[in-house]
Amino acid sequence: MKITAYRKAHFNAAHRLYRKDWSDEKNLEIFGKCSNPHYHGHNYELEVGVTGEVDPGTGFLIDLKILKDIIKEHVEDALDHKNLNEEVADFKDLNPTAEHIAYVIYHKIKKQLNPKYDLQIKLYETPRNFVVYTGN
Ligand code: NI
Repeated sequence: MKITAYRKAHFNAAHRLYRKDWSDEKNLEIFGKCSNPHYHGHNYELEVGVTGEVDPGTGFLIDLKILKDIIKEHVEDALDHKNLNEEVADFKDLNPTAEHIAYVIYHKIKKQLNPKYDLQIKLYETPRNFVVYTGN
């Protein structure tokens, strides 16, 4: 029996979307308000889904404490209250869009997780805008 278990998490972070090789005008045109040179924050909501076979002996898919601890250490402690552009090495040369943040979170968690599980990252940048990444 296959099932997906989810753990929710939350972090606040600041970012700026821009390309160094573009003017402020061009960045504003493409990235809108998120190109503000003085940065701005988002309240990111995260849903981490882990899919796999239920252990017939315990009835569990995964001990959610393990997932909780991985998210706490590798996502929340790494990103919460950070300026993503300036303080998080993963975004040194990667625009911190919701797409790229979901990609980075996916790989941070995947590295820690038993490889028998499939992973899904759902990241809300606003209550209405979100992305889903499953490693493809
Ligand atoms: Ni933004």
